[in-house]
Amino acid sequence: MLLSKRRPYLLLFIAFLFGASALAQDWANRPSTEARIEKLLKQMTLDEKIGQLNQYSAGSPTGPGTGRKNYAEMIAKGEVGSLFNVTGAQVNVLQKLAVEKSRLRIPLIFGLDVIHGYRTTFPTPLAMSATWQPELVEKAARVAAVEASHDGIRWTFSPMVDVSRDARWGRIVEGAGEDPYLGAAMSRAYVRGYQGASLSTADSIAACAKHYVGYGAAEAGRDYNTTEISERTLRQTYLPPFQAARDAGAATFMSAFSALGGVPSSANPFTLDTILRKEWKFRGFVVSDWNSIGELIPQGIANTPAVAARKALTAGVDMDMEANFYHSTLAGQVKNGQVPLSVIDEAVRRILRVKIELGLFEHPYSEISQDAMLTPQSRELARTVAEKSFVLLKNQNVLPLKSGAKVALIGPVADSAIDMIGAWAGKGDPKDVVTLRAALERKLGPSMTYAQGTEILTASTSGFAEAVNAAKASDVAVVALGENAVEMTGEAASRSDLNLPGNQEQLLKEIVATGKPVVVLVFSGRPLILNWEAQNVQGILEAWHPGVEAGNALVRTLYGENNPGGRLTTSFPRAVGQEPIYYNHFNTGRPLKDIDDSRPPKNHSEKFRSRYIDQQNSPLFPFGFGLSYTTFTYSPVKVSNTSLAAADINRGASKILVSADVKNTGSVAGDEVIQLYVSQTGTSVVRPVRELKGFQRVSLAPGASKHIEFTLGRAELAFWNIDMKDVVEPGTLSVWISPSSADGEPKTIELK
Ligand code: GLC
Repeated sequence: MLLSKRRPYLLLFIAFLFGASALAQDWANRPSTEARIEKLLKQMTLDEKIGQLNQYSAGSPTGPGTGRKNYAEMIAKGEVGSLFNVTGAQVNVLQKLAVEKSRLRIPLIFGLDVIHGYRTTFPTPLAMSATWQPELVEKAARVAAVEASHDGIRWTFSPMVDVSRDARWGRIVEGAGEDPYLGAAMSRAYVRGYQGASLSTADSIAACAKHYVGYGAAEAGRDYNTTEISERTLRQTYLPPFQAARDAGAATFMSAFSALGGVPSSANPFTLDTILRKEWKFRGFVVSDWNSIGELIPQGIANTPAVAARKALTAGVDMDMEANFYHSTLAGQVKNGQVPLSVIDEAVRRILRVKIELGLFEHPYSEISQDAMLTPQSRELARTVAEKSFVLLKNQNVLPLKSGAKVALIGPVADSAIDMIGAWAGKGDPKDVVTLRAALERKLGPSMTYAQGTEILTASTSGFAEAVNAAKASDVAVVALGENAVEMTGEAASRSDLNLPGNQEQLLKEIVATGKPVVVLVFSGRPLILNWEAQNVQGILEAWHPGVEAGNALVRTLYGENNPGGRLTTSFPRAVGQEPIYYNHFNTGRPLKDIDDSRPPKNHSEKFRSRYIDQQNSPLFPFGFGLSYTTFTYSPVKVSNTSLAAADINRGASKILVSADVKNTGSVAGDEVIQLYVSQTGTSVVRPVRELKGFQRVSLAPGASKHIEFTLGRAELAFWNIDMKDVVEPGTLSVWISPSSADGEPKTIELK
């Protein structure tokens, strides 16, 4: 019975697996839709138009911050365009009010933060980026869309595509790390997964690229803080993942809280109009972040709600999330001529366009069904994504664990379900989680001893002795440490200290002191400082916050059924003082070159460099890094040309073919993420020492090798030059094909 009830979803899932998910990007220019919009607009009163621009949080855990609670009345009067934070049958109840009670029967659009899964909680987005498999992330997003749409949600405030170079910022967990090229690939994947082959399909949900733009550059890694980004860096680093979302057909964008060069992103005509509308021709709508229009007042560019509303709307924020300033001030401003009616009309058009293309007018109600949730297939996908996301940082002959060995499982995260689902878990439920302790107990039974040892954040050492004894009585200790997923990662979770919280490292030192082999599993929403671990334990696996299938994925990995192949998408620092630290940095006029900066400078030449006197410049673990249970070798890079005209590449007339052979030289199968980097000198502006311009994750059997090819053309080599033109310039181009951003020997090509 259950299977037959679930058959539709099974077929849907299989259909999707065979690539039924094309790209939904033609939705924005359909004449029939435009005609419907104009017809409706002509019938709408000013109040009804403004009503479409209002969004309220209408459910647990938050009521509307505006103090307005009478939804029935507000909706019936056409004063609401969207609600969020409400799911299930209640969605249809509220929708019925709009469709049957409001004068023009315009349906509401219901949104929610579906960031890494709905009920099937996948690993966090930062973890998913570490798979370097956009196709896998697309599948996860598709599952999220099917589940969310069967609980009333047709719009997610995802993907978060903020490039982040600073591990102090708690929201680094929500994105794809520090690189724009990888970030753009992941951005496209999420949009395709959420929106499916067509926005109007019942299980498609509108994507929302956020937080537009530059929020990840918050000064000092402090959330909501100001950002100072040059236009060149904005276009070179922070905008590409947003442009990728737009090109993939994202239906909406969300404006950020942060100020950009002194202009708040939620009232920034340059980003919201010049770039998004005039350059990119984006035709969806922009929603503000939570009360970010209200925050224009403390930010200092508005002294009244009316000025804040006027600046946000005329800059290009179409929908007001939770400030209630559009509702309370726009009608008066239109009547007194301060806000042109045409600006209101254009915002309404954009919102109606998305609602029509979602099919909400024809199908305003959702088929609420729990059958779509947590299917065996989606759980299996969650386990696969988790397995592919793990990054092996160290392995001194301790992994895979030997079967038959007695294991001491220690640490405050080993049995913590809530910490497995990570930040922004939305409707994710800890009770659905398979913890590491449960999975390991199932596999080992009495061969496993569990001792929590300590809390994630405590000074108490009362549990240490039990943990030390458990280690002494075992053959190997697996120690699960990290950040808790509720307070220490995600929004409003910036940390000035990147060490393991509390006394976890102190506990680890006592476990290591027993002399037993130790494997540390790190559960974090960001890079942590692991200097002592890297020196003193035999194995380190970065497990992130791996979702509902955490335990099963980890046990399969610990015992070699899964060979970890994840790679870092953020640099792991040696000290918080290095932040922001990222691989694609500029060279400066005083590079280290081959100076050994692991010790203080010995002389003038060593001292007067861009360096610290008390720390190395390099990260502990670099972008792109990750080990495997096997080993791989790379042949020298081959290039199709060692010299060619930049102008030919610029006009698309020629490309460079770059290749290498990669071989699995170990005794077990494994995945390798082969990375293509470029760098250029002799150009009109400084360029990063390396930039990712291609990657392929390949699975190789022992002894097998694969010929890997990449092409370099205009898309990969153009950059914003001294004249702020996006062009390919002459210069000396270096090319690497390597296993990380810190490895490999380059091949040089002269671009004439
Ligand atoms: C939050 C976040 C944003 C989220 C929104 C709605 O403050 O900044 O990412 O989508 O509010 O929950």
